[in-house]
Amino acid sequence: MTYLLALDQGTSSSRSIVFDREGRIVAIAQRELTQIYPQPGWVEHDPMEIWSSQLATAHEVLAKAKLKASDIHAVGITNQRETTVLWNRKTGQPVHHAIVWQDRRAEPMCAKLREDGMTGTIQEKTGLVIDAYFSGTKLRWLLDNVPGARAAAERGELAFGTVDSWLIWQLTGGKQHVSDVSNASRTMLFNVHTHQWDADLLKALDIPASLMPQVKPSSAHFADTDAGLFDRPLPIGGVAGDQQSALFGQACFEAGMAKNTYGTGCFLLMHTGGDFQPSHNGLLVTSAAQAPGMPPQYAMEGSVFVGGAVVQWLRDGLKAIQGSAQVQALAESVPDAGGVMMVPAFTGLGAPYWNADARGTITGLTRGTTVAHIARAALESIAYQSAALLQAMSRDAVAAGGTPVAELRVDGGAAVNDLLMQFQADLLGIPVVRPEVIETTALGAAYLAGLSTGVYRDTGELSKQWRVERRFLPTLSREKAEEKMARWELAVRRATLV
Ligand code: G3P
Repeated sequence: MTYLLALDQGTSSSRSIVFDREGRIVAIAQRELTQIYPQPGWVEHDPMEIWSSQLATAHEVLAKAKLKASDIHAVGITNQRETTVLWNRKTGQPVHHAIVWQDRRAEPMCAKLREDGMTGTIQEKTGLVIDAYFSGTKLRWLLDNVPGARAAAERGELAFGTVDSWLIWQLTGGKQHVSDVSNASRTMLFNVHTHQWDADLLKALDIPASLMPQVKPSSAHFADTDAGLFDRPLPIGGVAGDQQSALFGQACFEAGMAKNTYGTGCFLLMHTGGDFQPSHNGLLVTSAAQAPGMPPQYAMEGSVFVGGAVVQWLRDGLKAIQGSAQVQALAESVPDAGGVMMVPAFTGLGAPYWNADARGTITGLTRGTTVAHIARAALESIAYQSAALLQAMSRDAVAAGGTPVAELRVDGGAAVNDLLMQFQADLLGIPVVRPEVIETTALGAAYLAGLSTGVYRDTGELSKQWRVERRFLPTLSREKAEEKMARWELAVRRATLV
């Protein structure tokens, strides 16, 4: 038997999954990660905990699967993106906690870049909009604020990495300082056309080039793990940021294929092939995972800030349910939302609206409204926000001479909710397809590792073994769906009036 080990280092937990050659899950191990909130708007992780929890789950999953490292063909790594680690090359010690992607502390630096007229340059070179979300300004903050960091960086003593680089550094006992194109493309410092760190952007942000890791395609031999970690050194054959890894695990290899991951937030990505297509609808362009022998590949990306988190709010804020699993039953106890529309703009609205001042709004309340209607409207809001994103992507695709997205592949925790998936298909008017394995983030990393080490010949083989569990077909007329979307847009306008 051939087994692949995926290390999936996410925002809330570190997980390891063993897959067999057919992409079936053999065993999973998981450990929660401590979230550190030093002040409002700041979010940090302890890099040593990221590493120790990840390594612990790798050992645990092997034990659960009753396998030894010698049974593992190769390792793939996938990770929370943008989260920024800065460490000392000699001691391997981080100089500060990791600054997590959700952290907003670098916003003043971003405002300055916008004022300096960098918006166009950054979008052309990196595909990104200037935002504190990305690693570049987080790294600059560390250099400016950690005592001695800048001087040490100038002397070449420090290394920067996204979480993939940090894990590989640790896995190789400090021998390798590398990253992949999909992670690099989230730093706002990487030129996605040349696949190099961009000298102009490094200069604009005053970041020494000596800090940066070497960047490889996502499916390549990155390194072998240090001899002391497992019973044999394991080849690391694949690395990708979690959303691009999920796109790969969903076998979306061609232009126009799209996936949506329904987690706390939702991440919708559409492959655009070898074409860098700038968005006219406020979406990001990002490097897709790059398989061996492939030219640069791109994807368009948009995210919903409050996806599954709206269910947590029903539970913890509104106390409407006791556990998240109850939401489907409560929402299904009424035939529809009874005219109630919820826009969960708790932290503003992202693409395609980009309104940081918008706030959560519930409209359409009547004397007959019950908590069940509100639960249904909350669930539906996840689908409305995703539909608005996908429609914006389709508009971009058509404007660039392509075709609208023909089906949406889904994964993530909330993708198990049948009511939500059916409503998503109804709004979009295209099939929503749930695969047998919804752990597609980890699967993508395993596939990337399998491709570079000869387990799979090519992506065609992976497309064949992508298996559908359920296909949700639209049941609503397009006229009715458009009416619903129009009501949603009206509710969004109200949410932005606050
Ligand atoms: O861009 C942030 C994303 O990579 C985080 O994903 O699944 O760890 O919340 P997740």
